Amino acid sequence: MAEDIKKGLLGIVVDETEVSKVMPEINSLTYRGYAAQDLCAKCKFEEVAYLILNGELPSEKQLKDFEKVERKERNLSKTLLESIKNFPKKSHPMDVARTAVSIMGLEDKETKDNSPEANLRKVMRIFAKTPVALAAFYRIRKGKKIIKPKSNLSFSENFFYMCFGRVPEKEIVKAFDVSLILYAEHSFNVSTFTARTITSSLSDIHGAITGAIASLKGPLHGGANEEVMHMMNKIKKPENALNWINNALDQKAVVMGFGHRVYKSGDSRVPTMREYFSKVAKVKKDKKFEKIYDIVEKVMIERKNIHPNVDYPTGPTYHLMGFDTDFFTPIFVISRITGWSAHILEQHAANKLIRPLASYKGNSYRKVIPINQR
Ligand SMILES: CC(C)(COP(=O)(O)OP(=O)(O)OC[C@H]1O[C@@H](n2cnc3c(N)ncnc32)[C@H](O)[C@@H]1OP(=O)(O)O)[C@@H](O)C(=O)NCCC(=O)NCCS
Repeated sequence: MAEDIKKGLLGIVVDETEVSKVMPEINSLTYRGYAAQDLCAKCKFEEVAYLILNGELPSEKQLKDFEKVERKERNLSKTLLESIKNFPKKSHPMDVARTAVSIMGLEDKETKDNSPEANLRKVMRIFAKTPVALAAFYRIRKGKKIIKPKSNLSFSENFFYMCFGRVPEKEIVKAFDVSLILYAEHSFNVSTFTARTITSSLSDIHGAITGAIASLKGPLHGGANEEVMHMMNKIKKPENALNWINNALDQKAVVMGFGHRVYKSGDSRVPTMREYFSKVAKVKKDKKFEKIYDIVEKVMIERKNIHPNVDYPTGPTYHLMGFDTDFFTPIFVISRITGWSAHILEQHAANKLIRPLASYKGNSYRKVIPINQR
């Protein structure tokens, strides 16, 4: 009989963290003790990024200084810009993000320095430059001119500006900001655990974030928001939704944007994002996706008792904002860089090499037969 295997590390506590927790007493995801939805209501994304990285909400002065650094670090090197221009146009933007961060690691003078001070400086560079790199690729692959970042715009405003050449209505910017806050951190999920695992060998932050991006790309993790949109596009109109979802469940399909390893009776981020999805649909005067959303959700809960996760409302929200579907997960990246980085700093501060064991089920011992006798 094999050892007691915890496949997928299900239920295994592997370390401690101060960054975030799903608190059962308030049934909510919290960052450094604050409920994510409370942060959405009272803060802009940059404040939450500061909180996640530094442990406390910033004062006005601290926020101003933080924003100053982020805005100053937005410019890309010539090498990185030229590389992005030469990437295959059909590349998935998640691969572009992964490669861009890797190139930043080649260029960063402090790559080898794992001190907390150097790591925080590197975080600010990765945090500021990754959206710029992604927006540049967004433009290039459409045959459009790259738009330089503007230092008088907020993080979210600037991302819209660099992708579309304009800053949209304030309701749209706020909804985007809210999505970034909700995506910023979620404890030991697979990409964060990947980042911590890479860090545990005392490797560098660019490598850890590069690995985390690769991990986030998968459809069982960040890639789900793109899959939600593919599903909604297949359903096409609200009249088709009921049949579509019933057929999918009859065929035992995994429905993207539903279910969660941690939340079994509803993801606490969903009600907030659902509200902002509705606001965006109102501004865009397009209720089609909201109708499809409600029908699919109702059937999933009635038939399977499986609730939506945050990728379910973010998918159609980003679509209504005008983003290409394959940019949904990269948007997740530009936010989650904050959570990953906080965990990387935490891992360095109390490191233990992550090295689990496996239960071996291969051949028993055998002797090598020379090639001419095989
Ligand atoms: C997120 C996810 C990987 C969690 O997985 P998990 O904790 O390992 O749970 P399981 O996959 O073991 O699911 C438990 C049961 O619910 C079912 N289930 C879970 N999520 C489901 C979904 N989205 N659609 C249909 N059935 C689902 C499983 O088929 C399984 O049923 P079974 O016991 O009859 O085999 C899973 O819910 C999923 O694949 N969701 C879709 C992808 C997604 O939205 N990911 C984003 C997460 S934030």
